[in-house]
Amino acid sequence: MKQDLPNIPGPIGVFDSGYGGLTILKQIRGVLPEYDYIYLGDNARTPYGTRSFEVVYEFTRQAVTKLFEMGCHLVILACNTASAKALRSIQINDLPKIDPSRRVLGVIRPTVESIGEITHSRHVGVLATDGTIKSESYPLEIHKLFPDIIVSGEACPMWVPLVENNEANSTGADYFIKKNIDQLLNKDKLIDTVILGCTHYPLLLPKIQRFIPENIQLVTQGEYVATSLQNYLQRHPEIDKKCTKGSTTQFCTSEAKDKFTESAFVFLNEVISVQRVLLE
Ligand code: DGL
Repeated sequence: MKQDLPNIPGPIGVFDSGYGGLTILKQIRGVLPEYDYIYLGDNARTPYGTRSFEVVYEFTRQAVTKLFEMGCHLVILACNTASAKALRSIQINDLPKIDPSRRVLGVIRPTVESIGEITHSRHVGVLATDGTIKSESYPLEIHKLFPDIIVSGEACPMWVPLVENNEANSTGADYFIKKNIDQLLNKDKLIDTVILGCTHYPLLLPKIQRFIPENIQLVTQGEYVATSLQNYLQRHPEIDKKCTKGSTTQFCTSEAKDKFTESAFVFLNEVISVQRVLLE
């Protein structure tokens, strides 16, 4: 175990490359309001979606280590790109060296667990970042549980920048949203369920709903991740007792504080105070 990690109970860490994970944090706090949380956004280096496996792994490992140093025993990667490209490597290579008793969980598995009950046609679409689509994590995870489901994916490289730059409601956003939805649905006409496989996308929901046919079910992740975390903590009392319960949230960013406070308001509808941290 690393000597300098605090070994007393601490908050649950929630990590994302930027603001997207706030959509997950919001739902987690709704289901588990009694816990303490630290949210960390790597806003200085977002987006992760177009970066290589090596870089996403390195950045995510740095963020997880930082959250451990800040007292977390359990960290949720509230980012599909990090869950797709870094989660398994961190669990297998790093946790045994850092501290085998700490836990890191992702958002892909909890999302796909529900899919078998939602799709009737057994044809599912996934909208996500380039990195998540190329990693094939969604088809791999879906097929572990439901081998009969046919999965098509579409990378939406412009969607995260639209959200990060506060353009989610602009008319300019319509072009990119319609284009990627049409491309996905053209790949498989039998799709009846579409997973929004990026934590930024709920901010684009009003526009996505406008361009997606009404008979298609949209799956957003927050509630599935929150319920799955609740079940996890019930099944793992040894982890639960290391998570403090004081209903507080600390916000941290690797970028300047002011921008985070302003943008976080869009996601949480709440004025927050934030601390800058250095990730290295
Ligand atoms: N919000 C992250 C996700 O869920 C990705 C954003 C990014 O590209 O950094 O995939």
